[in-house]
Amino acid sequence: MTQDDMKKEAARAALEFVRAGTVIGVGTGSTANHFIDLLPTVRGRVDAAVASSEASAARLKERGIDVVELNQAGTLSVYVDGADEATRNLALIKGGGGALTREKIVAAASHTFVCIADERKLVDVLGRFPLPLEVIPMARSYVAREIVALGGEPVLRQGFTTDNGNMILDVHGLTILEPARLEETLDHIAGVVTNGLFARRGADVLLVGTASGVRRIDRAGV
Ligand code: A5P
Repeated sequence: MTQDDMKKEAARAALEFVRAGTVIGVGTGSTANHFIDLLPTVRGRVDAAVASSEASAARLKERGIDVVELNQAGTLSVYVDGADEATRNLALIKGGGGALTREKIVAAASHTFVCIADERKLVDVLGRFPLPLEVIPMARSYVAREIVALGGEPVLRQGFTTDNGNMILDVHGLTILEPARLEETLDHIAGVVTNGLFARRGADVLLVGTASGVRRIDRAGV
């Protein structure tokens, strides 16, 4: 089974979280794309979707799913999205595709966040994947200096502008032992719009595609 097959099986397993007559949130990336491609199989259950990126909105429309603005939708029943890294405690690094700010907003506005991933994303400690920060352009150098002071190595994502008109700094060299704490620290740096740690509001359910099937990990107490 390829990595892509595992992503697809995790995406398929997420369909059971789509409840009839609700508006759902849909994320960004190759795993979320599999979920979008499978949505027509449950079209009768999906009233509409809120997308975390322009790319996902376009793909949803191509598949015949109505796309609405979050401001029109209220609280979403479920948000389905991928991740770049995930721990068994359901803390995540996201933003490899650069859509982290909208992803964090849609996740926050959803009742249940279902993360879908292939087994290579499951890690013991976050940080091997460079942590993305969305940064206001005029703050780029300042934020980079602050990151160096925290022990990270910021690298500007070349030729990339977010859907919000900002830049991405990818932070290398971090070993993230306390993700919720680092998430909060980074959020307090002036000029950082969002950081790619999803720990204070991590996933509620993680569906991991493996060679022997989809493994489900639930947040304790869910
Ligand atoms: C997009 O900004 C990211 O948060 C994605 O969810 C993440 O990069 C996972 O992407 P893949 O599903 O393509 O691996």
